[in-house]
Amino acid sequence: MSSTFPIGIFDSGIGGLTVASAIRKILPNEQLIYFGDTAHMPYGDKSPEAVKFYSLKIAKFLLDKQCKVIVIACNTASAHAFHELVHFLGDQVPIINVIDPVVDLLAKNGSDKKIGVIGTKSTIRSDIYARKFKLANPDLEVSSLATPLLAPMIEEGFFNNNISKTVINSYLSSSKLKKIDSLILACTHYPLIQDEISAFYKGTVNIINTAEIVAQYVHDRLSELKLLNEGSLKKHQFYVSDYTPSFEKSTRLFFGEKIGLRLESIWE
Ligand code: DGL
Repeated sequence: MSSTFPIGIFDSGIGGLTVASAIRKILPNEQLIYFGDTAHMPYGDKSPEAVKFYSLKIAKFLLDKQCKVIVIACNTASAHAFHELVHFLGDQVPIINVIDPVVDLLAKNGSDKKIGVIGTKSTIRSDIYARKFKLANPDLEVSSLATPLLAPMIEEGFFNNNISKTVINSYLSSSKLKKIDSLILACTHYPLIQDEISAFYKGTVNIINTAEIVAQYVHDRLSELKLLNEGSLKKHQFYVSDYTPSFEKSTRLFFGEKIGLRLESIWE
């Protein structure tokens, strides 16, 4: 394993580019190889078996690209496929999910009593956050709410407007999220509506942007493994399993700049 090898990142689609963008900010010297499974998104409505199947194929693709670490930039795939991927990859390459770094950080923080979680139906149904917090800090109360309209709404460019405000306010007014101290944005699309969520709570709730926490964790893991790239930066590569010009246009929203997407078929 060489420190010059790329960081592999994948998501059900382009939402995981928020995590890629946060990683690029903290690790500007690292080459990123991103795979967005646009042919099968949304994962949030799929069965755990389907999400496992797709995730294993993508991990194999990133392994073939000689990635030195693989980051699951999707809460739904982190909830359902992490253990299979750990088993599949063995000690070939470390794998990082978007849930554990966040749970570890908040469980240690000590000032929260109740934590809210919003995410796709599939992530919330898995109850993964409550189960992990129970192990990490049993004193914390965790209350989760599925917010399935948010990811498609963001992908269609509906944020910072009256429609997004109405949808966000309606979800956040749920009794499940009453009296929370922190709210975990447990979907990689949600950093784009972080400001609107903060505006709803008017500073009374700590909004947890998982992309930044995961990026810091990737930095720390690579540093620990002595795998931080000290060589020159190679060009990032972005792959999708289904290409449309509209996906490409949306990359600007999630990554901060428009990027060229390459179509890659990995299913046969
Ligand atoms: N990126 C996915 C996640 O973080 C949400 C989108 C989807 O349902 O595929 O859970």
